[in-house]
Amino acid sequence: MPLDQGFLDWCKGVERDLDPAAKMAHFLSQEFPNAWPDPWQVAAISSDAQTVALLVCRQAGKSCVLATRGVRELETGGTTICLAPAERQTREITRKVTQYLRCTDLVIERATQTEIETNNGGRFIAVPASGATIRGYTADLLLVDEMAYLPGHNGGEDVVVALLPMLKDDGQTFYASTPAGKKNMFASLFLEPSPDVHRIKVPGTSIPRLNARVERLRNQLSATRFRQEVMCEFLSDGTSYFDLSVIERAINHEKKAICPQL
Ligand SMILES: Nc1ncnc2c1ncn2[C@@H]1O[C@H](COP(=O)(O)OP(=O)(O)OP(=O)(O)O)[C@@H](O)[C@H]1O
Ligand SMILES: [Mg+2]
Repeated sequence: MPLDQGFLDWCKGVERDLDPAAKMAHFLSQEFPNAWPDPWQVAAISSDAQTVALLVCRQAGKSCVLATRGVRELETGGTTICLAPAERQTREITRKVTQYLRCTDLVIERATQTEIETNNGGRFIAVPASGATIRGYTADLLLVDEMAYLPGHNGGEDVVVALLPMLKDDGQTFYASTPAGKKNMFASLFLEPSPDVHRIKVPGTSIPRLNARVERLRNQLSATRFRQEVMCEFLSDGTSYFDLSVIERAINHEKKAICPQL
C-alpha cells in the first residue's frame, strides 16, 4: 500500500527537526531543488562553539549559513543581531531569513526590510555598520557578514566591540567573510588564532559545485585577486602604496622581475 503523503511530510518534518543539514537543504531547495549543504556548511550550522569564524570564498554560501542559523534562533524564540557593512547587505540577509522562514511553521508577526518578529517572541534585527547605533537589546546570537569589509578602525572593530556586550553569556557569534588584507579584526581571527574560536576555511577549489565558476575566475581575475577572493589568502598588509594587482601587472614573468611591461 503506498504511504500516505501526509505521513511522508510528517516524517520529513521530523527529519528536519533532528538534522540541521536536512533543514538547511529544505531552505536551499527553495532556490535549487535537490541542493544539499556542503560539509563546511553543516559543520558551521551544527557548531556549538561560542565563536565560529568562516573564511570562505565568494559565492560559496556564507550568507545562507548565517540566515539558516538566524532562522534556528527564531525557532527557539531567541534574538539575533546581524551586522553587515552596508544597508543593502542587511536587507539582503533579512530577505533570505524571511524566505527561509516561509518553510517553517513560524508566523511572522511584524517585518520590515531589516527586522523580523515571530509569534513565539523571536527577533531578527539586521544593522549596517555605518552609523550603527543599536542599544537596549540582549542577543542570543550575533552574526557578522562580510566582516573583513566593515568600515572603520581595524575593519569595524569599534562597532563589533560595541555589540559584544549585548550577547548573553551562553550566546553564540558567527563571523563570516572572504579576506580583505591582513589589517582587520577578521584577519586576526585567523592570523592570531585563539583556541576558543571554531575556524572554518573554505577555498573555492574545495567545493566541487563551484568548479566551473572557479575556473572562470582563474581566467578573469588577476592572480592576486584570485588568491584572495577564491583561495581565501590574507595577502596585502593594507599599508602598501600600490595595490597588489598593480604590482602584479608590472611583473615581467619571463624575466621574473618587476619592470614596466611595454
Ligand atoms: N550547498 C549549496 N548548494 C547549492 N547552492 C548553494 C549552496 N549554498 C549556497 N548556495 C547558493 O549559492 C548562492 C550564493 O549563496 P550566498 O549568497 O549565501 O553566498 P556568499 O558566500 O554569501 O556570497 P558572497 O561572497 O557574494 O556574499 C545562492 O544562490 C545560494 O542559494
Ligand atoms: Mg554573502
